[in-house]
Amino acid sequence: MAIVIHGPDEIAKMRVAGQVAAGTLAYVASKLRAGVSTGQIDEWVREDTARRGAEPSQLGYKGFPASVCTSRNEVICHGIPNPKHVLQPGDIVNVDITSNIDGFHGDTSATFQIGEVSDAAKHVTDVCWRCLHAGIEVVRHGARLGDIGAAILEIANKEDCGVVEEFGGHGIGRKMHMPPHVSHVGNAGRGMRLREGMTFTIEPMITIGHPRVVILDDGWTAVTHDGTPTAQFEHTVLVTKTGYELMTKQVEPLPLVCPGEPAAATA
Ligand code: MF3
Ligand code: CO
Ligand code: CO
Repeated sequence: MAIVIHGPDEIAKMRVAGQVAAGTLAYVASKLRAGVSTGQIDEWVREDTARRGAEPSQLGYKGFPASVCTSRNEVICHGIPNPKHVLQPGDIVNVDITSNIDGFHGDTSATFQIGEVSDAAKHVTDVCWRCLHAGIEVVRHGARLGDIGAAILEIANKEDCGVVEEFGGHGIGRKMHMPPHVSHVGNAGRGMRLREGMTFTIEPMITIGHPRVVILDDGWTAVTHDGTPTAQFEHTVLVTKTGYELMTKQVEPLPLVCPGEPAAATA
């Protein structure tokens, strides 16, 4: 299980792929609001990815039927877009985009609030965002893989939230999913040493209740066992000598709260 160390040319290509995924996520964010279906998000992702000269890595991956994962409310991850699933005020929805350009992949996601959401949904979303960034902050050459999960778990525990263990981050580069597996529940000082030039994702899934996962009959959709809301944020990260570089950094902060009214009907 050799972990790929990327050189300067590969890193430059990872930056491009990361910026494509981040750009498409920002594009979706600018259009998200009540009344939009998750099937519509899939169309936007297809169109925008093509406009950027890239391909959606998720389409057809192990038979996944769409270009993006759209995970609403109690859906932890791998939600399948559906034109019949229309976003309502009070929903939260994670949009997870992976793009492939010039042989490299970038992977990023965010959880958006549609209008005003419940205190529980807001809490789990805010905590998840903080967990992602706490995990990112410990990344540097010489740190341990377990430091990332430990930083995430510490915040989740303090905030009475659960951390999903069944899914984790992953190495990324010439393939969407590569070693290592990046657990979001680590032990500080344990696990593989991070080395300059490694690229992987950090993508914690945070729950209000116990983080037990149920997979629906479609074979993909992972939901909380108790129907409580759950959130996820994801970045693709490069390990550097002194810290990290976000391959999927946004140029401007994403608008995480989207309009709670549908767009006005056009004549
Ligand atoms: N982008 C997802 C991740 O963060 C990949 C989902 S695999 C799919 O790893 F097949 F469901 F798309
Ligand atoms: Co992803
Ligand atoms: Co990922």
